[in-house]
Amino acid sequence: MKSATQVEATPPPPSSISLGLNKMRSYEMVHHLVSCNAVVVFSMSDCCMSTVAKRLLFSLGVGPTVVELDEQADGPGIRSVLYQLAGSHQPVPAVFIGGKFLGGVQTLMASHINGTLVPLLKEAGALWL
Ligand SMILES: *[C@@H]1O[C@H](CO)[C@@H](O)[C@H](O)[C@H]1NC(C)=O
Repeated sequence: MKSATQVEATPPPPSSISLGLNKMRSYEMVHHLVSCNAVVVFSMSDCCMSTVAKRLLFSLGVGPTVVELDEQADGPGIRSVLYQLAGSHQPVPAVFIGGKFLGGVQTLMASHINGTLVPLLKEAGALWL
């Protein structure tokens, strides 16, 4: 109880610290979403590359969990977490299968073409046949 009182009495932290906390919250949100869902697509509703990624998964019979970052309060925070994962690449769309970061639309397409995507989806429980 003492520590809670201290937190309340503390003035708002400097912006660098609150940014760090927000980022941790965004990271936890991403982690939670990708751990609890076989296939997750972080998307922007107006991004055609996101549409391509979603369409490919739908066409395979997968119903991915889609997170439209432009419709999320924490969209920018999640985007910055994805940006770190994707390195220099475009952070959106970001596809996660079985809790693991697969990549963007290019990796998704390439995996489909070389035949590794469907086994990955089956392994994750996203496809039965
Ligand atoms: C298939 O393509 C993906 C994405 O480029 C790559 O990571 C993977 O190593 C490739 N696998 C094979 C067996 O070619």
